[in-house]
Amino acid sequence: MTADLHCLLDEATIGDRVASLAATIDRDYAATDLMVLVGVLKGSFIFLADLARRLTVPHRVDFIAVSSYGDRESEDASGAVRLLMDVRHDLGGADVLIVEDIIDTGHTVTYLRELLLARHPASLKVCTLLHKPARTEADVPIDYLGFTIPDVWVVGYGLDFAERYRTLPYIAELPPDQR
Ligand code: IMP
Ligand code: MG
Repeated sequence: MTADLHCLLDEATIGDRVASLAATIDRDYAATDLMVLVGVLKGSFIFLADLARRLTVPHRVDFIAVSSYGDRESEDASGAVRLLMDVRHDLGGADVLIVEDIIDTGHTVTYLRELLLARHPASLKVCTLLHKPARTEADVPIDYLGFTIPDVWVVGYGLDFAERYRTLPYIAELPPDQR
């Protein structure tokens, strides 16, 4: 079923990049009193697990879930974002790092930044494994970036198409005729 998918980023390439992101984050947060990684479900769960295990700086892990009316899997591309599940912990005074799988149009992270800034964290930054600059509709500051990719639909390493392919260990391009 997946044998004919074109691999864009293999396991070793992803692993090396995640390790280097973790080293940079460790350095930047060396003086933190309370760091909270906020993983955006579901897509970020594998990236967050690998990144968090590479960090040596003390941190908590929390999750938030959103759904986008602009998902290209659906017909509606309004860009409106809906909160499905909030974080469990108070983020006031914490150094919060949003951990995303991919920034596409930018609407999801724009929404999350506004939502979380209203909780008065000590700092708020964004870490995304992937970015598709060709699709930008809302500019978001990206503090930590894994890879810039072209405007193709990607699956694997947490990313899905209609809930399929999420647990592929690498990132592949899903051709339009397989969507
Ligand atoms: P944005 O709000 O347009 O930036 O979209 C962000 C969300 O859309 C991501 O968190 C993903 O869940 C989903 N998404 C965008 N592009 C892709 C892709 O190529 N593969 C899988 N999911 C994607
Ligand atoms: Mg996502």
